[in-house]
Amino acid sequence: MAVLLFATMPDTPRLHLPIRPRRLRRNASIRALVRETHLAPAHLIQPVFITDSGDSEPIPSLPGIERVPLRQLAGHCRMLRDLGLGGVALFPRTDPMLKTEDGREALNPETLVLRATRIIKAATPEFPVFNDIALDPYTTHGHDGVLNEAGTDVDNDATVEILARMAVLHAAAGADFVSPSDMMDGRVGAIRAALDTAGHSATGIMAYSAKYASAYYGPFRDAVGSSRATGAPPISKATYQLDPANRLEALREVAMDEAEGADIVMVKPAGPCLDIIRETRSVTRLPVAAYQVSGEYAQIHAAARLGWLDLQSTRDESLLAIRRAGADLILSYFAQFWAADQAHGTPPFST
Ligand code: PBG
Repeated sequence: MAVLLFATMPDTPRLHLPIRPRRLRRNASIRALVRETHLAPAHLIQPVFITDSGDSEPIPSLPGIERVPLRQLAGHCRMLRDLGLGGVALFPRTDPMLKTEDGREALNPETLVLRATRIIKAATPEFPVFNDIALDPYTTHGHDGVLNEAGTDVDNDATVEILARMAVLHAAAGADFVSPSDMMDGRVGAIRAALDTAGHSATGIMAYSAKYASAYYGPFRDAVGSSRATGAPPISKATYQLDPANRLEALREVAMDEAEGADIVMVKPAGPCLDIIRETRSVTRLPVAAYQVSGEYAQIHAAARLGWLDLQSTRDESLLAIRRAGADLILSYFAQFWAADQAHGTPPFST
């Protein structure tokens, strides 16, 4: 305060400061010159929800995001590719009639997401497609795997066997990467072995390695319909997803997935885990992905809708922070909107 008061007086005593960091912030050009972190559309992967119904379906808790019907999918992916995005991550909304306790629809060779994959690879063959490997879109209970006999927990080894078969179907349909999001022990190694045995040694694995049991997945579960009936409490995935209190455990998971043959490791959610992204970046030489999840997107939209935050600048800062933390790739629902703004020449952080 004192300094400010002095500054307004005629005989302001000048501070003898040889080091003045503000010299590098004087104007937009100088700030651009010394900017340390850059984000490009190619770093971003757009999650895409798919529906078997004829029309696109808005998702109220994910403003601006709609489930895309198959007949619009080719055009939609051409648009995303033309924005320069790095790829798409596919998530099906399974017809509730097809859901079962054991999620067997996941192994139907004609299941929605496999038909979608073939459509995309025919329309935009060079555009990378990442297919989620987990059973939650297919099970009546919404868990990522099959339950044990007592129905008290997800059965690890039985689930891994199913996921390995599922991954082979996705590779055969043309997925460039399969992305196990289930957090079962040993699934990356089992999937790698199954892919190789089936002749899919070129198909990559982007492993959800440090995936936390997060409260931020709510809108996603609305989008794929994997939460319990409306009003019921959300299911807990705490016996397989990481405890948000833990850091070392995340690094163990990253090391395991790398040793089992993952090509890309992922941290999720992103904003609440910037420390984990930074540590992961420093312990592996693999590309590191971070997933800015549905709840992170929804909370920025909600605050903007209330007039409490500016949507575009908060969005831009949230993505940049994830990249600064060390993410090479970012999965984000904002991807297409951010990329479209770049294409229209809105310079990020221009003031
Ligand atoms: C499920 C899966 C989830 C997400 C991606 N894959 C939800 C969950 O684990 O319940 C969350 C993505 C998001 O919230 O945007 N295997």
